[in-house]
Amino acid sequence: MKVLVISGSPRIGGNSDVLCDQFIKGAKEGGHSAEKINLGKKKLSPCTACYACRNNGVCVQKDDMTEILEKLILADIIVLATPVYFYSMDAQMKMFIDRCLPRYREIKNKDFYFIITAADPQHEATDETMGGFRGYTRCLPYAKEKGIIYGNGAWEKGDILGLPAMQNAYEMGKNV
Ligand SMILES: Cc1cc2nc3c(=O)[nH]c(=O)nc-3n(C[C@H](O)[C@H](O)[C@H](O)COP(=O)(O)O)c2cc1C
Repeated sequence: MKVLVISGSPRIGGNSDVLCDQFIKGAKEGGHSAEKINLGKKKLSPCTACYACRNNGVCVQKDDMTEILEKLILADIIVLATPVYFYSMDAQMKMFIDRCLPRYREIKNKDFYFIITAADPQHEATDETMGGFRGYTRCLPYAKEKGIIYGNGAWEKGDILGLPAMQNAYEMGKNV
């Protein structure tokens, strides 16, 4: 299986990014191929709603999203990771989701896993973020939600290291 992990935090090596690496470690040990894309390292701009892509499925913006869309379409398993920002997903992740517009119907039959980190220790703190993710997968043909890794109670970089989410991410990756 081909696993594609989209790490949405601008904090490279931060809590959700570390959980992405744990998931990848598990997936590789489980015999799968896995790749991580850090949105913070990519050249991406928001959707401008020009709707030019309606004609030909091609975005007028020539940036890294062209390549990311190709990888999404080829993946079997997609992992989306974001920190909670004001009880929602971060801007990088939302921008990525909106930029799927030209080809979202081709992102089909995928298994989805979600990684969410938050300072707030309650799982409910991720509800709105999960609502956003589900709004995305609802639009993709035959998307299946397979698992959520809750990285609650992690604020500073490194806080995640002692938390059960580390093991959960590794095991979920191994058992995809
Ligand atoms: C702009 C901003 C807004 C945040 N809003 C929330 C919030 O609403 N609730 C919360 O629990 N944590 C909030 N946090 C804390 C982050 O979710 C937390 O530090 C998380 O571990 C960051 O994950 P990362 O290291 O992967 O970036 C916020 C952090 C930032 C920078």
